[in-house]
Amino acid sequence: MSRSAALELDGVVHQLPVVEGSEGELAIDISKLRDTTGYITLDDGYGNTGSCRSAITYIDGDAGILRYRGIPIEDLAGRSSFVETAWLVIFGKLPTVEERNRFADLLGENSMIDENMRKHFDGFPASAPPMAILSAMINTLSAHNPELWNVTDDDSMERAAAALMSKVRTIAAAAYKSSIGEPKVYPRYDLKYADHFLHMMFSVPYRDYQPTKEVTAALNLFLMLHADHEQNCSTSTVRMVASSKANLLASCAAGVCALWGPLHGGANVAVIEMLQSIQDMKMPVAEYVRKVKAKEDGIKLMGFGHRVYKNFDPRSRILKKAVDDVLAQQHASDPLLDIALELEAAALSDDYFVSRKLYPNVDFYSGILLRSLGIPLNMFTVMFAIGRMPGWIANWKEIHDDSKGRIYRPRQVYVGPTGQSWEPRSER
Ligand code: ACO
Repeated sequence: MSRSAALELDGVVHQLPVVEGSEGELAIDISKLRDTTGYITLDDGYGNTGSCRSAITYIDGDAGILRYRGIPIEDLAGRSSFVETAWLVIFGKLPTVEERNRFADLLGENSMIDENMRKHFDGFPASAPPMAILSAMINTLSAHNPELWNVTDDDSMERAAAALMSKVRTIAAAAYKSSIGEPKVYPRYDLKYADHFLHMMFSVPYRDYQPTKEVTAALNLFLMLHADHEQNCSTSTVRMVASSKANLLASCAAGVCALWGPLHGGANVAVIEMLQSIQDMKMPVAEYVRKVKAKEDGIKLMGFGHRVYKNFDPRSRILKKAVDDVLAQQHASDPLLDIALELEAAALSDDYFVSRKLYPNVDFYSGILLRSLGIPLNMFTVMFAIGRMPGWIANWKEIHDDSKGRIYRPRQVYVGPTGQSWEPRSER
């Protein structure tokens, strides 16, 4: 039996359809509300608004559950690879061996960027933020091999997805090399996704970089954990842009820009900066926590809190263990990890954080993991973007495949001046 919700407005009762998701999530469909009543709904920051129906990722924020296409993140984290997970996220099922090999070949074959595009890197100052370079270069890709980005069927979708994932990796490494004044390293067909990236990041003309298997595994894990996260700020941005029928590159370049901010993907940088400043100032953790609680200078405990998770972010638990494993394998320690552990313990036993259900999110430990892999701070959010690419592509595909889809166009409640008229300049 279909359910409905009753809404009484000005003495009239309106029945609104109730939509149920495959995990039992319930939503009131208000899409016809304005047509029938003249009212819109208002939800600052979209805290309680479902913007779409999506079959890609499921999150239960109260229970701390994250699943890609129905598969728990813990299951994938221990057993899958980034490339396999990417295919799962984009195409909806685990790939067969043949599909997996075909996609890996496409990733290898598409790792070059047009030689002319390499000149663009020289136009950026050495201090250019790699996120600025990444978003600009993703858009620039559409000027080269435009046929590659023309998605008309499953084959062209798969080619475009592989090309974007692969070229983004090359662009990211080239942006880094530019920033440190080293020659850019050409891709190598024989390397797998994570090793291939590390090669282009850390090899130099006279010496190839050889990652340990633990480093490769940790990078794979990092990318996999970031592959998708339903309707977050950057993914919603990608969908918004895609809804205007903008191409894959324009939509994903916009996603990079949305990810950049410190409240979203930029938080992995902000966490390290916070830990570093606590260390540099020799500030006791209790004092930092006091400042956060007092909202002094607007500071927050970066890497804590989440719009959806009101429990542990399952990715933060996995990352914490990965940090331990990599540091143990390297026989190393990181003083910032010690501060992070102390901060986490202080926050989890403090009523300010407990009552607001603020727990570590994915960014709390991800920066420490990236540091242990030798990734520099200014590349952290770029690493997030490389990992999130499958999710953006999958969401773009969902919009692209929906023949009935409408352009995303929210409404607003206007609160500005009314009834004004233009005044001659001499009278103002
Ligand atoms: N430190 C201290 N207080 C916090 C924090 C934090 N990290 N996060 C939320 N709060 C407080 C708010 O000040 C607010 O307190 P109040 O009730 O006294 O006003 C309360 O908790 C509710 O917070 P909101 O701002 O309503 O939470 P919202 O859902 O809008 O924001 C966000 C979520 C942006 C992630 C927020 O928790 C935050 O800024 N965290 C730090 C930045 C961060 O780690 N971002 C990464 C998120 S994960 C990702 O994007 C990949």
